[in-house]
Amino acid sequence: MINIIVAIAANNAIGKDNRLLWHISEDLKYFRRITLGHTVAMGRKTFESIGKPLPNRRNIVISRTLPPQDGAEVYTSITEALPHIQTGEDVFIIGGGVVYREALPLAQKLYVTQVGKAYEADTFFPEIKTAEWREISREDFPCGEQFPHPFSFVVYERK
Ligand SMILES: NC(=O)c1ccc[n+]([C@@H]2O[C@H](COP(=O)([O-])OP(=O)(O)OC[C@H]3O[C@@H](n4cnc5c(N)ncnc54)[C@H](OP(=O)(O)O)[C@@H]3O)[C@@H](O)[C@H]2O)c1
Repeated sequence: MINIIVAIAANNAIGKDNRLLWHISEDLKYFRRITLGHTVAMGRKTFESIGKPLPNRRNIVISRTLPPQDGAEVYTSITEALPHIQTGEDVFIIGGGVVYREALPLAQKLYVTQVGKAYEADTFFPEIKTAEWREISREDFPCGEQFPHPFSFVVYERK
């Protein structure tokens, strides 16, 4: 099954200058808990911004320019990667903007961290249309241990 996991600001912003816009340690722990033991797929720029393959996960990178990598499989598109996914394998698309846009029509579930603040950005997540997605769980937090704004972990399933 194809899942998307993403943290989205109030204005749909997700990144700037190939970096995340915030540091929410609770969200990093949530990301790890949800993706651990599964497959993660990402664009070349997100792979470069993380800097190394994510441990204890099968790593797939989408790129037309990246040479073969230790610890990550490189495919030239999501469509080229799909035949290499086993039946029953959970794939988490972990960004960035280009890959989210391509994967959204293919995804069955969205794990969205809603960040309750708008940010100046150069990368945005596409609109999550309520006609297409049903919210199936939500956890709201007034702030993080070191993050002063509200955020929520929301899971959507395709209708
Ligand atoms: N908030 C979040 O949850 C979150 C999560 C992840 C990333 N981000 C942010 O998102 C930003 C990066 O996103 P981005 O949109 O700039 O880049 P990206 O999606 O990470 O990577 C784009 C690159 O992926 C490759 N690619 C993507 N689709 C392809 C396709 N169909 N065919 C061939 N290659 C394809 C291309 O690489 P080549 O040029 O090598 O061909 C393309 O340049 C950063 O700011 C990052 O911090 C945010």
